[in-house]
Amino acid sequence: MSGTSRLNAILLLATASCLAAAAMGLHAHDDGQPGKVPDQEKYAPTILPDRIVLSWTGDPATSIAVTWRTSAEVQQGWLEVAEATAGPEFARQAKRLPAVASPHESPWGAAHYHSVNVGELAPETKYTYRVGDGENWSEWNQFTTASADAKPFTFVYFGDAQNDLHSHWSRVVREAYSDAPKAAFLLHAGDLINKGDNDADWGEWFAASSHIHRMIPCIATPGNHEYVKSGESILGITLGRKLTSYWRPVFAFPENGPDGLHETAYYIDYQGVRVISLNSNEQLELQAEWLEGVLTQNPHRWTVVTFHHPVYSSAAGRDNALMRDIWQKVFDKFHVDLVLQGHDHTYARTHAVRHEENVPTGVTARSETGGTVYVVSVSGPKMYNLEKRPQMARAAEDTQLYQIIHVNGDELRYEARTATGQLYDGFRLNKQADGRNQLTEQIPDTPERLRQKP
Ligand SMILES: [Fe+2]
Repeated sequence: MSGTSRLNAILLLATASCLAAAAMGLHAHDDGQPGKVPDQEKYAPTILPDRIVLSWTGDPATSIAVTWRTSAEVQQGWLEVAEATAGPEFARQAKRLPAVASPHESPWGAAHYHSVNVGELAPETKYTYRVGDGENWSEWNQFTTASADAKPFTFVYFGDAQNDLHSHWSRVVREAYSDAPKAAFLLHAGDLINKGDNDADWGEWFAASSHIHRMIPCIATPGNHEYVKSGESILGITLGRKLTSYWRPVFAFPENGPDGLHETAYYIDYQGVRVISLNSNEQLELQAEWLEGVLTQNPHRWTVVTFHHPVYSSAAGRDNALMRDIWQKVFDKFHVDLVLQGHDHTYARTHAVRHEENVPTGVTARSETGGTVYVVSVSGPKMYNLEKRPQMARAAEDTQLYQIIHVNGDELRYEARTATGQLYDGFRLNKQADGRNQLTEQIPDTPERLRQKP
């Protein structure tokens, strides 16, 4: 090949790769190498269903809620559901249910978040479902309804995922799934994403968790990062913050909370455990009143509460005294067993403690029987300095974790595991006849992971 022909061939190749890159919407570099794929290419809604997530608005023994996203071109979404069979014959029995669409604007086009609450399901039964527009369908996914009785089960709890969801949080949620693939639900204690109104953040959250939320229902409470500026202002000063416009379309949670806080403060009963989400971003007093009612009428043996801002902060200068004054007394009164929180980007798990033992300079805050165990954890890669308090039994810095919690009759067993699957913390609660717990420490014999202080 002559010099000129070689040059022509190189130019042709470069043009072809630029054209191919342009066709894919890529910003190619000068040397023809493809550039970074813009968020629009990755996260714009299409007519194909994505962001499929299971949750509950009603009884986990007899219902499931499914939400998903398409572009707004899909006016009517459908869900098909059937009892799962060993072969493909279930598809012939599938019942088709219409979805309700919530319109939502994204920077890359109008979307519809579709939602179906499937009721009249049989307890302890495996179902298969798919979602779509009648022609374009998701894959068939499976889930199992809860038992109507207090039977043993396992669930997973995550602290803040929040940052670098696609690159860093993915390994934690996937490690947790491989450790507890039959978990009843995945509980997220707020700050699922970093910028509440950033569509790409939500896209990353779903990309990281892949098919997992299509099979295992999710319980989530909003953190401060699910709150955004309200947009109202006087003399240029922003007045306040409000829940991101994504929260209610993306998830379907119960509407049994106080007015105005629906789907952020709510409770779900799962096989003998009342799981309560409180919204620690606003209206703490109103929720304390509501909580009293929910706990007065609680027929279940175990109570787990989740919210974002911790009662015992594990980060310097971030004390939330209001949480102790307004909420902790209610937790004490009704012997709440476990409180699962986030926000401080460290790990800190307390002994079983009560409000009156909360001496600021506390010599001891331990309560051998009774009291509540409070946990702060973090699953994403953003890390803060730890401020250890006397209430804390086990803590960590710079460690991504997930927690596996087993409930079996009078026993609750808790394990915190690192992103590599190593046991980092553990304890057991045994319920006594008077409703109080005996706590047995099961902390592994490994040093705490703490930053080297200069
Ligand atoms: Fe956070």
